[in-house]
Amino acid sequence: MLTPATLNTAGQSGRNRNDAADIRVVPTGRGTGAEIVGVDLAKPLDDAAFAVIEAAFDLHGVIYFRRQQIEPADQIRFSERFGPIEVNFNSDKHGLEEHPEIFAIGNVQDDPRAPGLRGVGQTWHSDMCYAAHPPRATMLYAIEVPELHGLATGDTSFANAALAYEALPEPMRARIDGRLATFDFTRRKRSRPVSAETVARYPPVQHPVVRTHPQTGRKSLYVMGDDCVAIEGVDEPEASQLIAALASHVLRPEFIYRHQWRAGDLLMWDNCTVQHKALGDYAAPQRRLLHRATIAGAPPA
Ligand code: SIN
Repeated sequence: MLTPATLNTAGQSGRNRNDAADIRVVPTGRGTGAEIVGVDLAKPLDDAAFAVIEAAFDLHGVIYFRRQQIEPADQIRFSERFGPIEVNFNSDKHGLEEHPEIFAIGNVQDDPRAPGLRGVGQTWHSDMCYAAHPPRATMLYAIEVPELHGLATGDTSFANAALAYEALPEPMRARIDGRLATFDFTRRKRSRPVSAETVARYPPVQHPVVRTHPQTGRKSLYVMGDDCVAIEGVDEPEASQLIAALASHVLRPEFIYRHQWRAGDLLMWDNCTVQHKALGDYAAPQRRLLHRATIAGAPPA
């Protein structure tokens, strides 16, 4: 099992702050995502350093920093540079005791040393697309990463929905531009029941099928098989077929980056640009524990 004790701190400078000039943005070359090198998130980030990171985030959709050794307060401080944190409605159960803004995702619920909500996000989705204001970003910090025979398991895959939109044939773009889709929380197949209170919190909502990124103006396909249930002005069964075809198009291999976690990774994704899916290819006694922060966003437009 990989734990923070195995962290390699090489590459972290002895300085007590980050410097924009030291930061390198290294694209994964896999359709989405970039590694940010030369940043220690336990140290202060001035505006120039943060601007490099935010620009990389807006451009690449997923960014990650290896070998971080941070406390929940550091994660909160970094998250808040991107916007206010949304406290998860389950934080009474899975929020950290002293930092309810941070939500624990884990796989060993009955082990008090590995708390957290298990089996989160194991189908393709964009976080809380069924909400009126889905989050701008989601950030995970890996505390424990499962492994089997020395190989990491529990990867997370990301599909770039902006590239997917750009690859659509022009007649399809003309067909879907400007249309609204309905997202309905209750229609998704779930591994555990949801409370009536949660269902009432998220009534069906409409969002554009093609979203425009609030920072870059780039367009993305905002259609997922699970929660997207109708397209305005398109009758059944054509709407369901169109949703299935678009959702499947987003998942073409050339749009996908699969992140293999290491303990100490801090990774964040843009819920406008990418969809994601966590791989459930591990089980106790393998342990997976991540700390998640969710950053508020504007309504999709
Ligand atoms: C999520 O969908 O928020 C969880 C992703 C993961 O656990 O890798």
